[in-house]
Amino acid sequence: MKVPFIDLKRVAGLVHAQALEAWQRVAERTEFVGGPTVGALEAALADKLGVRHAVSCSSGTDAILIGLQALGVGPGSKVALPDLTFWATYEAVAQLGATPVLVDVDADLQLDLDELRRAHDAHRFDAVVLVHLMGWASARLAEIRAFCRERGIALVEDGAQAYGVEVAGAPVFAGAQISTLSFYPAKVIGGCMDGGAILTDDAALAGLVRKLCNHGRATHYSYSHVGWNSRMGGLQAAWLLAMLGHGDEIVRTRRADEARFRERLAELAPLARAYGPPPGVAGNGYLSVFTLERAEHEAVARRLGELGVGVGRVYPETLSQQEPARQAPRASGLERSRDFCRRVVDLPLYYGMTAEEHAHVCQSFATALRAESER
Ligand SMILES: Cc1ncc(COP(=O)(O)O)c(C=O)c1O
Repeated sequence: MKVPFIDLKRVAGLVHAQALEAWQRVAERTEFVGGPTVGALEAALADKLGVRHAVSCSSGTDAILIGLQALGVGPGSKVALPDLTFWATYEAVAQLGATPVLVDVDADLQLDLDELRRAHDAHRFDAVVLVHLMGWASARLAEIRAFCRERGIALVEDGAQAYGVEVAGAPVFAGAQISTLSFYPAKVIGGCMDGGAILTDDAALAGLVRKLCNHGRATHYSYSHVGWNSRMGGLQAAWLLAMLGHGDEIVRTRRADEARFRERLAELAPLARAYGPPPGVAGNGYLSVFTLERAEHEAVARRLGELGVGVGRVYPETLSQQEPARQAPRASGLERSRDFCRRVVDLPLYYGMTAEEHAHVCQSFATALRAESER
């Protein structure tokens, strides 16, 4: 049996026919940039994610960048962000001419609030990018928000990976100053091309974000800001609207499969350590995350490959290990992020995984890990 790390055809199959029909209408109405289908998607997102305003844009990277810009981040700003995240988080800060300051993660792989507090004394942050990483979020979300609010630090929450994540029973996006989404096709709600969204309860901020996404336009040919061309079109919006219609089912099944990996593979401790949502947080099953405590990941991946199982490594290196970030200021030695990246292995996890595939992954991982840990 072959189980790839990801199989997008299964989730795409949910909406394929519906999207083709919608695309016909979008093409007839020439809704190529913006338009009523984009408006309908934004309304559906706001409703689903517990926020007042959702503004679509071209990518999750743009969403972070434009969210930060709307909160006043620019040259001279100091912005804290976790060392463990996708490179786009760093790019968004750096592209604005701001200085990224790297902070280590906590045991739950989310930004370490205690380190952030200490680092703020030294660096005096203008903004923080909190990343809801791996398919869950920090159990200390409310404390992190309060920390930033009380000190007037702008807070953008990078929720690229977090559609479907809930904290204390509410969508993680609810109550954020600004949060963002990515619709990269491999995300839990994936588009048919790049896309993103910026979410907020603040009408003035939403208006500014909408302008910044559209060249900083005041009217069609007058400009109140230097913005970007970061807009969504009807084809992508129609695909995403269809996908949102299956959102609950996608999250429910991915979440259950992720939890079942942890349950079934708990017996592998201490050879492998499983990571998952902390108490009070419901994950979305974006990733199935393990670290290998004795075996080498290359050798385990090779054995799994022989058994027909694909694995991923999210992420094999931290931000501070990337050439453009080597000199970036940091709050500490960033050891936890680095140690995690050295050891991480992600098992296959995608919408539509069958029970047989799930069982085959569990069995193969156990076999490969035991063989390689005993060498
Ligand atoms: C944590 C995180 N931030 C930002 C992004 C960037 O999103 P996009 O690829 O849509 O630009 C991604 C995903 O790709 C991500 O996982």
